[in-house]
Amino acid sequence: MNDPQHKLTIAIDGYSSCGKSTFAIEVAKKMKYLYIDSGAMYRAVTFYCLQNNLIKNGKLNEDRLIHSLKNIHISFQYNPKKEANEIFLNGINRSEEIRSVEVSNYVSQVSKIKKVREKMVELQRELGKNKQIVMDGRDIGTVVFPDADLKIFMTADPAIRAERRYKELVEKGKKVDYNEIEKNIRERDFIDENREFSPLRKAPDAIVLDNSHMSVKEQMKWIMDLINQKLK
Ligand code: DC
Repeated sequence: MNDPQHKLTIAIDGYSSCGKSTFAIEVAKKMKYLYIDSGAMYRAVTFYCLQNNLIKNGKLNEDRLIHSLKNIHISFQYNPKKEANEIFLNGINRSEEIRSVEVSNYVSQVSKIKKVREKMVELQRELGKNKQIVMDGRDIGTVVFPDADLKIFMTADPAIRAERRYKELVEKGKKVDYNEIEKNIRERDFIDENREFSPLRKAPDAIVLDNSHMSVKEQMKWIMDLINQKLK
Protein backbone atom coordinates (compact mmCIF):
# COMPACT_ATOMS: atom_id res chain seq x y z
CA MET A 1 0.00 0.00 0.00
CA ASN A 2 1.67 3.20 -1.14
CA ASP A 3 -0.74 5.59 0.51
CA PRO A 4 -0.55 5.58 4.31
CA GLN A 5 -3.47 8.04 4.44
CA HIS A 6 -5.79 5.66 2.63
CA LYS A 7 -9.44 6.18 3.41
CA LEU A 8 -11.60 3.54 1.84
CA THR A 9 -15.19 2.58 2.51
CA ILE A 10 -15.57 -1.17 2.07
CA ALA A 11 -19.08 -2.61 1.77
CA ILE A 12 -19.61 -6.35 2.16
CA ASP A 13 -23.05 -7.75 1.42
CA GLY A 14 -24.31 -11.23 0.88
CA TYR A 15 -26.35 -14.19 2.01
CA SER A 16 -26.54 -15.40 5.61
CA SER A 17 -23.97 -17.89 6.87
CA CYS A 18 -21.48 -17.04 4.12
CA GLY A 19 -18.78 -16.08 6.59
CA LYS A 20 -19.32 -12.37 5.94
CA SER A 21 -18.48 -11.21 9.44
CA THR A 22 -15.37 -13.42 9.80
CA PHE A 23 -14.15 -12.06 6.51
CA ALA A 24 -15.09 -8.41 7.24
CA ILE A 25 -13.40 -8.54 10.67
CA GLU A 26 -10.18 -9.84 9.10
CA VAL A 27 -10.24 -7.14 6.41
CA ALA A 28 -10.84 -4.40 9.02
CA LYS A 29 -7.97 -5.73 11.18
CA LYS A 30 -5.59 -5.83 8.26
CA MET A 31 -6.52 -2.29 7.17
CA LYS A 32 -6.79 -0.94 10.76
CA TYR A 33 -10.32 0.22 9.93
CA LEU A 34 -13.50 0.30 11.97
CA TYR A 35 -15.65 -2.81 11.57
CA ILE A 36 -19.42 -2.48 11.86
CA ASP A 37 -21.78 -5.46 11.83
CA SER A 38 -25.04 -3.92 10.58
CA GLY A 39 -26.95 -7.15 11.25
CA ALA A 40 -26.16 -6.70 14.96
CA MET A 41 -28.10 -3.41 14.87
CA TYR A 42 -31.27 -5.10 13.54
CA ARG A 43 -30.74 -7.80 16.13
CA ALA A 44 -30.49 -5.18 18.91
CA VAL A 45 -33.82 -3.62 17.84
CA THR A 46 -35.35 -7.11 17.88
CA PHE A 47 -33.99 -7.69 21.38
CA TYR A 48 -35.62 -4.40 22.46
CA CYS A 49 -38.95 -5.63 21.03
CA LEU A 50 -38.74 -8.90 22.96
CA GLN A 51 -37.73 -7.11 26.15
CA ASN A 52 -40.58 -4.64 25.91
CA ASN A 53 -43.34 -7.06 24.93
CA LEU A 54 -43.71 -5.68 21.44
CA ILE A 55 -43.86 -9.27 20.19
CA LYS A 56 -46.86 -11.28 21.37
CA ASN A 57 -47.85 -14.76 20.22
CA GLY A 58 -45.14 -14.60 17.61
CA LYS A 59 -46.43 -11.37 16.10
CA LEU A 60 -44.68 -8.01 16.16
CA ASN A 61 -46.71 -4.89 16.95
CA GLU A 62 -45.32 -2.67 14.21
CA ASP A 63 -47.08 0.53 15.29
CA ARG A 64 -45.77 0.27 18.83
CA LEU A 65 -42.28 -0.41 17.53
CA ILE A 66 -42.40 2.64 15.25
CA HIS A 67 -43.51 4.76 18.22
CA SER A 68 -40.75 3.31 20.39
CA LEU A 69 -37.96 3.99 17.89
CA LYS A 70 -37.15 7.30 19.59
CA ASN A 71 -36.33 5.31 22.77
CA ILE A 72 -33.92 2.95 21.05
CA HIS A 73 -30.30 4.06 21.18
CA ILE A 74 -27.65 1.85 19.65
CA SER A 75 -23.90 2.35 19.87
CA PHE A 76 -20.69 0.36 19.49
CA GLN A 77 -17.64 0.25 21.75
CA TYR A 78 -14.35 -1.45 21.05
CA ASN A 79 -13.34 -4.05 23.64
CA PRO A 80 -9.53 -4.38 23.45
CA LYS A 81 -9.55 -7.63 25.48
CA LYS A 82 -11.85 -9.31 22.97
CA GLU A 83 -10.38 -7.32 20.07
CA ALA A 84 -13.96 -6.77 18.98
CA ASN A 85 -16.61 -4.12 18.72
CA GLU A 86 -19.45 -4.67 21.17
CA ILE A 87 -22.99 -3.44 20.69
CA PHE A 88 -24.82 -1.40 23.32
CA LEU A 89 -28.58 -0.96 23.48
CA ASN A 90 -29.57 2.01 25.64
CA GLY A 91 -26.19 1.91 27.32
CA ILE A 92 -26.12 -1.83 28.09
CA ASN A 93 -23.84 -4.29 26.34
CA ARG A 94 -26.10 -6.79 24.55
CA SER A 95 -23.52 -8.48 22.33
CA GLU A 96 -24.36 -11.94 23.72
CA GLU A 97 -28.13 -11.62 23.95
CA ILE A 98 -28.60 -10.53 20.34
CA ARG A 99 -27.29 -13.94 19.17
CA SER A 100 -30.09 -15.91 20.87
CA VAL A 101 -32.34 -18.21 18.84
CA GLU A 102 -35.34 -16.07 19.84
CA VAL A 103 -33.77 -12.93 18.37
CA SER A 104 -32.79 -14.87 15.22
CA ASN A 105 -36.39 -16.04 14.84
CA TYR A 106 -37.87 -12.54 14.88
CA VAL A 107 -35.18 -10.38 13.29
CA SER A 108 -36.61 -10.79 9.77
CA GLN A 109 -39.97 -9.35 10.91
CA VAL A 110 -38.21 -6.36 12.47
CA SER A 111 -35.72 -5.68 9.68
CA LYS A 112 -38.40 -5.46 7.00
CA ILE A 113 -39.98 -2.32 8.56
CA LYS A 114 -39.17 0.81 6.57
CA LYS A 115 -38.91 3.16 9.56
CA VAL A 116 -36.56 0.76 11.36
CA ARG A 117 -34.35 0.58 8.28
CA GLU A 118 -34.32 4.37 7.91
CA LYS A 119 -33.14 4.81 11.48
CA MET A 120 -30.44 2.14 11.15
CA VAL A 121 -29.19 3.51 7.82
CA GLU A 122 -28.86 7.00 9.34
CA LEU A 123 -26.70 5.63 12.14
CA GLN A 124 -24.67 3.48 9.73
CA ARG A 125 -23.91 6.52 7.57
CA GLU A 126 -22.89 8.52 10.63
CA LEU A 127 -20.49 5.73 11.65
CA GLY A 128 -19.03 5.71 8.15
CA LYS A 129 -18.73 9.44 7.61
CA ASN A 130 -14.94 9.45 8.07
CA LYS A 131 -14.51 6.40 5.82
CA GLN A 132 -11.85 3.85 6.89
CA ILE A 133 -14.69 1.47 7.60
CA VAL A 134 -15.66 -2.09 6.71
CA MET A 135 -19.39 -2.70 7.09
CA ASP A 136 -21.19 -5.93 6.37
CA GLY A 137 -24.88 -6.57 5.85
CA ARG A 138 -27.47 -6.90 3.10
CA ASP A 139 -27.87 -3.37 1.72
CA ILE A 140 -24.53 -1.70 2.44
CA GLY A 141 -23.36 -1.37 -1.17
CA THR A 142 -26.85 -0.63 -2.53
CA VAL A 143 -28.42 1.70 0.06
CA VAL A 144 -26.11 2.66 2.91
CA PHE A 145 -22.93 3.48 0.99
CA PRO A 146 -23.83 3.51 -2.73
CA ASP A 147 -20.53 5.34 -3.34
CA ALA A 148 -18.36 2.85 -1.43
CA ASP A 149 -14.83 2.46 -2.83
CA LEU A 150 -15.02 -1.31 -2.81
CA LYS A 151 -18.16 -3.45 -2.83
CA ILE A 152 -18.07 -7.19 -2.33
CA PHE A 153 -21.06 -9.47 -2.76
CA MET A 154 -20.51 -12.76 -0.95
CA THR A 155 -22.18 -16.00 -1.81
CA ALA A 156 -21.66 -19.74 -1.33
CA ASP A 157 -23.57 -22.88 -2.19
CA PRO A 158 -26.48 -23.21 0.33
CA ALA A 159 -25.55 -26.86 1.04
CA ILE A 160 -21.98 -25.84 1.85
CA ARG A 161 -23.18 -22.98 4.06
CA ALA A 162 -25.50 -25.39 5.89
CA GLU A 163 -22.64 -27.86 6.39
CA ARG A 164 -20.37 -25.15 7.83
CA ARG A 165 -23.13 -23.93 10.17
CA TYR A 166 -23.90 -27.53 11.20
CA LYS A 167 -20.25 -28.22 12.08
CA GLU A 168 -19.99 -24.94 13.99
CA LEU A 169 -23.04 -25.77 16.13
CA VAL A 170 -21.96 -29.39 16.71
CA GLU A 171 -18.54 -28.13 17.85
CA LYS A 172 -20.37 -25.90 20.34
CA GLY A 173 -22.07 -29.04 21.68
CA LYS A 174 -25.50 -28.21 20.22
CA LYS A 175 -27.83 -30.98 19.09
CA VAL A 176 -28.90 -29.97 15.61
CA ASP A 177 -30.49 -31.42 12.52
CA TYR A 178 -28.66 -30.78 9.24
CA ASN A 179 -31.84 -30.72 7.11
CA GLU A 180 -33.42 -28.19 9.44
CA ILE A 181 -30.38 -25.92 9.10
CA GLU A 182 -30.37 -26.13 5.31
CA LYS A 183 -34.11 -25.37 5.22
CA ASN A 184 -33.58 -22.33 7.48
CA ILE A 185 -30.75 -21.00 5.29
CA ARG A 186 -32.86 -21.30 2.14
CA GLU A 187 -35.82 -19.60 3.87
CA ARG A 188 -33.64 -16.72 5.07
CA ASP A 189 -32.23 -16.27 1.57
CA PHE A 190 -35.78 -16.06 0.25
CA ILE A 191 -36.87 -13.48 2.86
CA ASP A 192 -33.73 -11.36 2.37
CA GLU A 193 -34.13 -11.33 -1.41
CA ASN A 194 -37.86 -10.76 -1.50
CA ARG A 195 -38.61 -8.16 1.15
CA GLU A 196 -40.19 -4.92 -0.06
CA PHE A 197 -37.64 -2.45 1.32
CA SER A 198 -33.91 -2.81 0.63
CA PRO A 199 -33.96 -6.45 -0.48
CA LEU A 200 -30.63 -8.24 -0.76
CA ARG A 201 -29.25 -7.41 -4.21
CA LYS A 202 -25.83 -7.32 -5.72
CA ALA A 203 -24.95 -3.70 -6.50
CA PRO A 204 -24.09 -3.35 -10.22
CA ASP A 205 -20.51 -2.39 -9.31
CA ALA A 206 -20.03 -5.07 -6.63
CA ILE A 207 -17.52 -7.87 -7.16
CA VAL A 208 -18.78 -11.36 -6.43
CA LEU A 209 -16.89 -13.55 -3.98
CA ASP A 210 -18.13 -17.14 -4.08
CA ASN A 211 -16.27 -18.71 -1.18
CA SER A 212 -17.80 -22.21 -1.47
CA HIS A 213 -14.35 -23.69 -1.98
CA MET A 214 -12.09 -21.00 -0.50
CA SER A 215 -10.34 -20.78 2.85
CA VAL A 216 -10.30 -17.50 4.80
CA LYS A 217 -6.63 -17.17 3.85
CA GLU A 218 -7.46 -17.46 0.16
CA GLN A 219 -10.28 -14.93 0.53
CA MET A 220 -7.89 -12.50 2.23
CA LYS A 221 -5.35 -12.80 -0.55
CA TRP A 222 -8.15 -12.20 -3.06
CA ILE A 223 -9.38 -9.01 -1.38
CA MET A 224 -5.94 -7.62 -0.52
CA ASP A 225 -5.04 -7.83 -4.21
CA LEU A 226 -8.17 -5.79 -4.99
CA ILE A 227 -7.46 -3.26 -2.23
CA ASN A 228 -3.86 -2.84 -3.35
CA GLN A 229 -5.03 -2.17 -6.88
CA LYS A 230 -7.43 0.51 -5.55
CA LEU A 231 -4.65 2.16 -3.60
CA LYS A 232 -2.09 2.21 -6.42
O1 DC B 1 -26.18 -10.74 9.41
P1 DC B 1 -27.19 -11.26 10.43
O2 DC B 1 -27.71 -12.64 10.11
O3 DC B 1 -26.74 -11.14 11.84
O4 DC B 1 -28.42 -10.27 10.25
C1 DC B 1 -29.55 -10.40 11.03
C2 DC B 1 -30.78 -10.03 10.22
O5 DC B 1 -30.77 -8.65 9.90
C3 DC B 1 -30.97 -10.80 8.92
O6 DC B 1 -32.24 -11.42 8.98
C4 DC B 1 -30.97 -9.78 7.84
C5 DC B 1 -31.10 -8.45 8.54
N1 DC B 1 -30.19 -7.45 8.00
C6 DC B 1 -30.71 -6.52 7.15
O7 DC B 1 -31.89 -6.58 6.83
N2 DC B 1 -29.90 -5.54 6.66
C7 DC B 1 -28.62 -5.48 6.99
N3 DC B 1 -27.86 -4.50 6.50
C8 DC B 1 -28.06 -6.44 7.86
C9 DC B 1 -28.88 -7.44 8.34
